[in-house]
Amino acid sequence: MKQPNITMFVKELSVRISREVKVGSIHIIITTVLCLSMALFVVILAMFINDHIRNLKTEDFYFPQPNTFLPHSPSPSHSYILCNSSSSSTSHLPQNSTTIGIALAMEIWHSMSDEELMWRASMVSRIAEIPFKWTPKVAFMFLSRGPLPLAPLWERFFKGHEGFYSIYLHAPPGFTKEPPESSVFFHRRIPSKPVEWGRASMIDAERRLIGNALLDFSNERFVLLSETCIPLFNFTTIYNYLINSNHSFTDSFDDPGHVGRGRYNKRMWPTISLSEWRKGSQWFEVHRNLAIDIVSDKIYYPVFKNHCKPPCYMDEHYMATLVNKLQPERNSNRSLTWVDWSKGGSHPSKFVRKDVTQVFLDQIRHGFNCTYNGVTTSICFLFARKFHPSTLQPLLSMASS
Ligand SMILES: *[C@@H]1O[C@H](CO)[C@@H](O)[C@H](O)[C@H]1NC(C)=O
Ligand SMILES: *[C@@H]1O[C@H](CO)[C@@H](O)[C@H](O)[C@H]1NC(C)=O
Ligand SMILES: *[C@@H]1O[C@H](CO)[C@@H](O)[C@H](O)[C@H]1NC(C)=O
Ligand SMILES: *[C@@H]1O[C@H](CO)[C@@H](O)[C@H](O)[C@H]1NC(C)=O
Ligand SMILES: *[C@@H]1O[C@H](CO)[C@@H](O)[C@H](O)[C@H]1NC(C)=O
Ligand SMILES: *[C@@H]1O[C@H](CO)[C@@H](O)[C@H](O)[C@H]1NC(C)=O
Repeated sequence: MKQPNITMFVKELSVRISREVKVGSIHIIITTVLCLSMALFVVILAMFINDHIRNLKTEDFYFPQPNTFLPHSPSPSHSYILCNSSSSSTSHLPQNSTTIGIALAMEIWHSMSDEELMWRASMVSRIAEIPFKWTPKVAFMFLSRGPLPLAPLWERFFKGHEGFYSIYLHAPPGFTKEPPESSVFFHRRIPSKPVEWGRASMIDAERRLIGNALLDFSNERFVLLSETCIPLFNFTTIYNYLINSNHSFTDSFDDPGHVGRGRYNKRMWPTISLSEWRKGSQWFEVHRNLAIDIVSDKIYYPVFKNHCKPPCYMDEHYMATLVNKLQPERNSNRSLTWVDWSKGGSHPSKFVRKDVTQVFLDQIRHGFNCTYNGVTTSICFLFARKFHPSTLQPLLSMASS
């Protein structure tokens, strides 16, 4: 009884095996065909990409030559960003892949959103030593409502100090007038947006200036200026004062009055408490480390934007409070920009031609006492505002003497 059963089983087994072998060979064939067609596809794709890259190369887009980004370049969209060497970033950089990498980053810059700009600007190298020769620079950031009537004074101020400074100009978006190529302000405008004084858009403009200036890693100090500001000393003195200081210079004080604590909004709590709330002049001077903190701030900025609206003026409280929260010990709590509030009112005095005398300027230059790196000094202000365009001629003639 068992015999036939076993034969049947063996037969069945052999049939099944042969069927499986057939199915297996079909699998192998299908796999081979698939592999072949995949390989063919990859080859075609590679040829296509290769072709494409060659096209891009010929358009100088993918691997731009460094000189594409100099102001002499025929394409304004490039030169817009990277100014020459005279005041700029690349002058002391090696002209090789590093330069090209930076140039490529700059190329992207003018089309960046604010968010993307802040993100890029907030990056920090984890290698402290820069592997080539560089000079720390001071970034002079002009937040202007239009042209710079005192530009000739600044031209004279910067003359001969190329490589020690960078200039950034945030002008209204419609303002497209470009100074002559010989000017230090040539191609220094950054992409801008409309600014409403006292509103968040003003802080946005300041952050945009800092963000742009941070992209140049040789900028160590960041000064905010307006079109009515003047320098009170020569470049060397101002440069040394800033570069050698251990502190930032951001005006920050606790004003118990209604224009100080009175502008605090309870809804800011617990992010900002009343005792942390500060007031101060808008015109700051910060070191790089604090500049990175400012563009990286995602905690305090939204609170201010939502709860500090006129009669709370964000430009009078945001930096002052932020610095007090983030780096109180590294701030001098004073501004370097002199302004005259003695006449009262909501705007400081504006000076015209007849006000500008040697005695007047010396009074601002040496008439105060303050602390610098822990030592008392009479040089407390490096800049002054607000100067009417009519002061240009007397200021120029005094500067030359
Ligand atoms: C641009 O930089 C180069 C090299 O530093 C210099 O020779 C040239 O004069 C500069 N051009 C301008 C317009 O400043
Ligand atoms: C770039 O140039 C500098 C100086 O010209 C050189 O020391 C450095 O090795 C170069 N780097 C590369 C990646 O070629
Ligand atoms: C800049 O001013 C300082 C102090 O007033 C003076 O000693 C120095 O010679 C001046 N430098 C130049 C280049 O004029
Ligand atoms: C600035 O003020 C903060 C607190 O408001 C304080 O901690 C810091 O020591 C002050 N800085 C200087 C240089 O006095
Ligand atoms: C500054 O300090 C000096 C010396 O201590 C003093 O003679 C001078 O009157 C002070 N100036 C002011 C404006 O306080
Ligand atoms: C500045 O700070 C550094 C490090 O914090 C310190 O070594 C140096 O002595 C300080 N300089 C002055 C003038 O306070």
